[in-house]
Amino acid sequence: MRVLGIETSCDETGIALYDSERGLLADALFSQIDLHRIYGGVVPELASRDHVKRLVPLVRDVFAKADLPMGAVDGLAYTAGPGLVGALLVGGAFARATAHAWQVPALGVHHMEGHLLAPMLEARPPAFPFVALLVSGGHTQLVQVNGIGQYQLLGESLDDAAGEAFDKTAKLMGLPYPGGPEIARLAQQGQAGRFVFPRPMTDRPGLDFSFSGLKTAVLNAWHECQRQGDTSQQTQADIARAFEQAVVETLVIKCRRALKATGMKTLVMAGGVSANQHLRQALEKMTAGLRAEVFYARPVFCTDNGAMIAYAGCQRLLAGQHDEGGLITRARWPL
Ligand code: KG4
Ligand code: ZN
Repeated sequence: MRVLGIETSCDETGIALYDSERGLLADALFSQIDLHRIYGGVVPELASRDHVKRLVPLVRDVFAKADLPMGAVDGLAYTAGPGLVGALLVGGAFARATAHAWQVPALGVHHMEGHLLAPMLEARPPAFPFVALLVSGGHTQLVQVNGIGQYQLLGESLDDAAGEAFDKTAKLMGLPYPGGPEIARLAQQGQAGRFVFPRPMTDRPGLDFSFSGLKTAVLNAWHECQRQGDTSQQTQADIARAFEQAVVETLVIKCRRALKATGMKTLVMAGGVSANQHLRQALEKMTAGLRAEVFYARPVFCTDNGAMIAYAGCQRLLAGQHDEGGLITRARWPL
């Protein structure tokens, strides 16, 4: 089965062709980061309008890259939520109209299921069952995954998501959007130990997270530096380093706990924050100590992309699922 995947939930237009026999055939991505940067975050109306512009050229692009005629697919999969409703509607309406014209089924898929399954696109995919750490701009969740569609929530953030904490921390120090890659880059030059921030909710049992207190601790430290007239790039880097360290350690502690609680030996991490090199290294080290293994996608498939939607859609279309009734997009949608 060959599926065209369409991702438009936020500020990236991602298109891909996935074939159940041959794997990923082609993918194309347009990131709107430059469009939103001057506003310090995503402007929903601008995001929707830009998806309208990018969809057709990117779809043409993937068929050309795969050396296939337009429409040579058995189904279309699009992100139905969670995300920005206007942006989701652009991709959803396009997918459903196109599926109608090409006389193939369409299926709305869950954005976080896409992220969760993205490591399956790699040469050495993880095997079910596993524990998944989903860390994106909107979600931080630990999930027990027994198979496609068999997801049991083990824990989640009670306030900010990990990526959101990166973005807000960057913003409060005047760094550009999106903050995750900026903080990660600065942290490389940071001196360890100059600042120390809390590891929230690690001193009590359970698998939930909370990152808003950490953000406040950074804000207080930054205000103190400003009061002392020390807002140098080195100070920003030292704060970034301590912040990243606190997030990484918190995530590692909870992942270790989840592996122990479930008795599983496979950890999968996915979502934008899983592109973070320090987090990858720290999880490699932790899982090695437990004789377990960690899997993640290549960096471009950690952040939003069409390939993960094509893959997730293909699995569900193969299982006989497709859209029933009208177009449904959901800003909020539990996994
Ligand atoms: O999965 P994603 O592309 O979009 C959502 O579904 O939210 O995740 C975006 C998030 C942003 O918060 C961004 O700052 C963060 O992932 N991010 C990173 C890194 N790259 C992206 N956070 C930490 N380190 C990175 N290298
Ligand atoms: Zn995402």
